[in-house]
Amino acid sequence: MNRIKIISLLKSETPRDKITVKGWVRTRRDSSNFSFIEINDGSCLENLQIIADESLENYEDIKKLTTGSAVAVFGNLIESQGKGQLWEMKAKALEVISLAPDSYPLQKKRHTDEFLRTIAHLRPRTNKYGAVFRIRSELSFAIHKFFRERDFRYIHSPIITGSDCEGAGELFKVTTIDFENPPKKDGKIDYSRDFFGTEASLTVSGQLSAEMFALALGDVYTFGPTFRAENSNTKRHVSEFWMVEPEMAFCNLFEDIDLAEEMVKYLAVFILEECADDLKLFTRFVDKNLKSTLENIAQSEFKRILYEEAVEILRKSGKNFKFDINFGKDLQTEHERYLTEDFFKKPVVIYNYPKNIKPFYMRLNDDNKTVAAMDVLVPRIGELIGGSQREERLSMLEARMNETGLLKENYWWYLDSRRFGTVPHSGFGLGFDRLIMLMTGTSNIRDVIPFPRTPNSIDF
Ligand code: 4AD
Ligand code: MG
Repeated sequence: MNRIKIISLLKSETPRDKITVKGWVRTRRDSSNFSFIEINDGSCLENLQIIADESLENYEDIKKLTTGSAVAVFGNLIESQGKGQLWEMKAKALEVISLAPDSYPLQKKRHTDEFLRTIAHLRPRTNKYGAVFRIRSELSFAIHKFFRERDFRYIHSPIITGSDCEGAGELFKVTTIDFENPPKKDGKIDYSRDFFGTEASLTVSGQLSAEMFALALGDVYTFGPTFRAENSNTKRHVSEFWMVEPEMAFCNLFEDIDLAEEMVKYLAVFILEECADDLKLFTRFVDKNLKSTLENIAQSEFKRILYEEAVEILRKSGKNFKFDINFGKDLQTEHERYLTEDFFKKPVVIYNYPKNIKPFYMRLNDDNKTVAAMDVLVPRIGELIGGSQREERLSMLEARMNETGLLKENYWWYLDSRRFGTVPHSGFGLGFDRLIMLMTGTSNIRDVIPFPRTPNSIDF
């Protein structure tokens, strides 16, 4: 008989006979002639309580069941006699699929996140990490739902690329060159003899591809892995992360900001409504203010300020920041957090940044000093979203490429889009892993990624 998942069993409105449940033992308590066994199958936070009594032929084995063992239970779902649960299951047969030895690291006591990171292959079996990864799955779905409801098309931008979208040089190379004996020309490695006939790398952003498709399909988005070889060991940076990148034709910076705000609010509401059980765990054990933070995000109007104004507020704050701030400098996380957590106490959108700290593709404003860029900052995280209106004017774009030292030959296809039917267009990138941090109250990005990749660490 097919197994039934605990998540659907617990929603039952009537008792059910002759069902099969499979899962892993969380705890076992024995009485004189029967045992309570709590099992979890990962489908939801809650366990199912099994009652196994001495009439079962293998009851002696059942009494040896350890935490982490796998079982299949056949029996009836009945109304629970005890407190704490509506339903429990009376076993008619219980098969021990595998017995976990006492060395199983996840015994009952609570473990620190640091310890659980060292056993990332087992941590999804804990309540907290099970909830993190269910929420991660739900939010992925919510993102597709959000865009589909608005007629955006999903584009699969390439992972291997020949261009550096952000121009920051934080690229992981993709190569088949034999480094013991590389092909050389004029003393340098000859990439024309590499696999793709030129230098290639893992993408830092799907934006450039998305732009080409926005200029064909209208509103599009990419949602996939991106890679950055930046050597920053912080709680908000990883080398491999997922980014959601909408790109819209006929759209200016302010419409872009509108979509970003609408999307973050939509996702907060989605989580509050669809993941209430898992969310309760985080509100109880991780961040007491989580629910109110999410409600605040869902309800408040995001504050929109010019970069110039943000700098003024920071300079007048009287705060002793580690990095000082003045016009022309990029904001650090401490500045971003001050603005959103202390000063405005809600999400903040900063726009019109100085051009010298932003990539080549952002649209130059009439002041010739700033570009039509925007960042969305949220409490506890800082930057969640970065986006811009794109430079759609060919000559301006070429000038910016010259200024930033990009070779036009390498971007001939990108420049084509400004030659043929160019239109104002805009988009942004939302860091999906930071979104999960925001929605679960998690403070370290390593704890929302199944197997995080960071400098000097790739154990799993
Ligand atoms: O601000 P970023 O660099 O923007 C872009 O890449 C644009 N091409 C996006 C676009 O307009 N289509 O990155 C976007 C977001 C950041 O706001 C942050 O949330 C996340 O991606 N991010 C990271 N998340 C985790 N680890 C890292 N190393 C990250 N770098 C950026
Ligand atoms: Mg950014």
